[in-house]
Amino acid sequence: MAYGACIFDLDGVITDTAHYHFLAWKRLAESVGVPFDEEDNHQLKGVGRMESLAYILAKSDRTFDEAARARLAEQKNDDYKNLIREISPADLLPGILDAFDWLTERGMKIGLASASKNARPVIESLGVADRFHYVADAAQIPRGKPAPDIFLDVATAFGLSPEDCIGVEDAAAGVTAIKSAGMIAIGIGDPVILAHADLILPDTADLVGKGFAPLIG
Ligand code: BG6
Ligand code: MG
Repeated sequence: MAYGACIFDLDGVITDTAHYHFLAWKRLAESVGVPFDEEDNHQLKGVGRMESLAYILAKSDRTFDEAARARLAEQKNDDYKNLIREISPADLLPGILDAFDWLTERGMKIGLASASKNARPVIESLGVADRFHYVADAAQIPRGKPAPDIFLDVATAFGLSPEDCIGVEDAAAGVTAIKSAGMIAIGIGDPVILAHADLILPDTADLVGKGFAPLIG
């Protein structure tokens, strides 16, 4: 099978910003009296900002109108932006630069399919913005993950069929999005949570050796 592109998620795949999202959501949830743990966090990985907020507020007895929701979303985002202020190339996860080099040497396209509206500044701080041939704009994608839209947007930008693309994700919603798009999914993380991926690796260090090499050759 000749694959033409690899489409990466950002948070939790290229860098560990998934942890900063968790911290910011936990603080926000607790500020409105809702407990928030790792299990909630798994549910929210890959899920957009307003949808994540709705998940948390659904656990509260209070009601929040649109203006209150907008304020809370802004509060979480300000908190998150503070946490990622000092991100640098040292925060790239292991094996990511090797993965980019390996794909580039084979003439494959590299895409980014992140639900985050902070994706652009994050890849710039990481010093890898120019490694991507296309970065999806989450603000322009009608349906968030687990819908396939963002992965299909990248495939379309490359002029490729979904079956010619590989997606890499750390979130259950993200793996579902890749599979519903008709692509091959590499899951990074927990084999139970990501059981529906075609291939699961514990972390990104082995992405080339145990992911791309056996799949792409
Ligand atoms: C996803 C993260 O990549 O982006 C989620 O996994 C996050 O945790 C979502 O909520 C939206 O991010 P942002 O930066 O637009 O609030
Ligand atoms: Mg992720």
